[in-house]
Amino acid sequence: MRILQKETKKPRRQIRTGDLRKALACAVRAARMAGALMRRNQSVAKKINSRSRYDIKLELDVRCQKIIERILLRAFPGSGLLGEEGMAGVAESNLRWVVDPIDGTVNFTYGVPHACVSIALQERGERAADYSTIVGVVYDPFCGELWTAARGAPARLNGKIIHVSARKKLDVAIVAIGFSKDAASLRVNLPVFNALVPRVLKIRMTGSAALSLAYVAGGRFDAYLESGVRIWDIAAAGFILERAGGEFWRRPISGEHRYEMLANNGWLRRKVERVAREARMEGGF
Ligand code: IPD
Ligand code: CA
Repeated sequence: MRILQKETKKPRRQIRTGDLRKALACAVRAARMAGALMRRNQSVAKKINSRSRYDIKLELDVRCQKIIERILLRAFPGSGLLGEEGMAGVAESNLRWVVDPIDGTVNFTYGVPHACVSIALQERGERAADYSTIVGVVYDPFCGELWTAARGAPARLNGKIIHVSARKKLDVAIVAIGFSKDAASLRVNLPVFNALVPRVLKIRMTGSAALSLAYVAGGRFDAYLESGVRIWDIAAAGFILERAGGEFWRRPISGEHRYEMLANNGWLRRKVERVAREARMEGGF
């Protein structure tokens, strides 16, 4: 079942074209402001707010989200915001921002310059739980790369239209994989990793779900799979991928806002799925 950007039932359209343009501009401004703070702190020791076995949360995650909240909610005072660092704005609103202030926090903490800001704007559909994404912005402050898309328009990287790759075979493909943040996800997905490695040209684990998705959108990678990602990791870049002609398959799994996803250039889904299914069966999952 797809609920993140459900397209079977036409959602009510609440936002006008002018507001859509304004929303994109605001999301870009917010992403750039948060990104500038990330860049200023790249080589500085970071204050860790909390830590678990496979994850780190920084004070800067919270500061970046506050910057983003201020810009977005001032420009759209009636909207709501669902972020990795909490909720803000009007919860019942028909418009909600979905924000990951720093995607790739562990990279960022260790000084690896591969992390980004991810901001999506979603419109509520006929049923309260259905949202469709209408704006997506992913900003990599270290490469100066801004990935954007808005409803009805093509995906762009720094203003230039982008498209997914045309590679149809696994043996020439770069496939990214993520292991989420828990031991269960590791156990289930390690057999998939092992099975994919010899079949593809290269496997990549980037540490940023949003950038892995954006890279599929831009044709750098050909597919990306992960189980256990949260909506804020994938909402913006999944939409950018769709606007770039790619396929963003996902389904909700247990846990709040959690998804299993397989993004690809439109040619590789079945092939990756077959390898994953066989590997999980052999692994007893
Ligand atoms: C994480 C990164 C990572 C992915 C995890 C995400 P965070 O987000 O995107 O690549 O494997 O599933 O939660 O914690 O860096 O914002
Ligand atoms: Ca994230």
